[in-house]
Amino acid sequence: MHTLRPATLDDVDFLLDVSIEASRDQGRLPAAADEPGWREGYLDLARRQISDGPSTTSVIELDGRPVGRLRVTREAARIELNGIQLDPSVQGRGIGTAIIRQLQQEAADRGVPLDLGVERDNPNARRLYDRLGFLQYAEDDREDKLRWRHDIWTTELATTYDTPGIGMFADDVLGPTTARLAELAAGGRALELAIGTGRVAVPLAARGVPVSGIELSPPMIEQLRTKADEATIPVTIGDMSAVRVPGEFSLVYLVFNTISNLLTQEEQVACFRNAARHLTPGGHFVIELWVPELRRLPPGTPATVGIADPNYILLDTYDVLNQHVVSHHFRFADDGYEATLSRTPHRYIWPAELDLMAQLAGFTLESRHADWSGTEFTADSPSHVSVYRLT
Ligand SMILES: C[S@@+](CC[C@H](N)C(=O)[O-])C[C@H]1O[C@@H](n2cnc3c(N)ncnc32)[C@H](O)[C@@H]1O
Repeated sequence: MHTLRPATLDDVDFLLDVSIEASRDQGRLPAAADEPGWREGYLDLARRQISDGPSTTSVIELDGRPVGRLRVTREAARIELNGIQLDPSVQGRGIGTAIIRQLQQEAADRGVPLDLGVERDNPNARRLYDRLGFLQYAEDDREDKLRWRHDIWTTELATTYDTPGIGMFADDVLGPTTARLAELAAGGRALELAIGTGRVAVPLAARGVPVSGIELSPPMIEQLRTKADEATIPVTIGDMSAVRVPGEFSLVYLVFNTISNLLTQEEQVACFRNAARHLTPGGHFVIELWVPELRRLPPGTPATVGIADPNYILLDTYDVLNQHVVSHHFRFADDGYEATLSRTPHRYIWPAELDLMAQLAGFTLESRHADWSGTEFTADSPSHVSVYRLT
């Protein structure tokens, strides 16, 4: 059974040895002539990392015997696995996999991604990360950058997402939404970011507006395909802050609070820039988003209860320093005792910050209302529909 303990300065020689043995085993040691300098540099770096780095270095032990090293950096919006190395004598026993799965669980519990970099000359490690569900999101001259996210939009959620005629699928919600979007499309093409199962796209297309979509979750697209084929509503799989869809659009829209699914300010700004890339000059970007409910948080209380029905409790926990909120959905079985828990993490955004993100991407605010029917937006409005124009 493996355990982890924080490394101390007494462990530095062991950390160097295990690093050398693991690298040698992979045929990735520096040339013999460079080794003394490499050792010197490594010892110095390891000492600094243990004493005052933002990361945590741990010694991996097996039955009380040190067998590896692990370095992890925990930030508000992500966890980064900086390095894991095991002595060759204990490799192949699933210790590395178990530790990475533990980190995945920690990331899922906190609602943040788990990131790492893998050197391109290390195909064994790359295979392991592929198997554990990491996807490449960037690269530099030496490494591929991989990211793992807890999969929220699963088949189970996708197949129960639609509630035809009820809630967000009610005619009095979708009627005004699609009427306003059709007006803003002004005879041009529309692109929905995070199109989901086509709650809005399908009735908008039925009004005669050509609609395309970007969506991250294959199960959500599968549900959309039960209602509209690829020729009617083409969808590109990928991240709405990065993926480019062919052609130009007069309208891009992102509704149902979904910009907050991007967990960093950087990604949210990138999403605005991606919307701008798809628009013709003068085109519109529409965002529907809730107003953060921080006025409901008494000092010292980090959570609010949003809904308290007999079968469903919604609890939002806030990390106000990092502008994060995690919604905890407790759904009770018919007996009223057993419950399932699912969590959705968000980065909340004030309207003023949203306007600044828009400005960075070349937009100006054209209108802001409390809903799709044009109700005045006031200090008490719980959410808003903001229309930005590409200048
Ligand atoms: C609340 S649903 C909204 C779906 C649809 N727009 C609607 O109004 O019903 C959120 C959707 O955003 C998708 N999503 C989340 N993050 C995304 C991202 N970075 N890029 C693309 N889609 C994303 C999810 O897979 C999910 O389908």
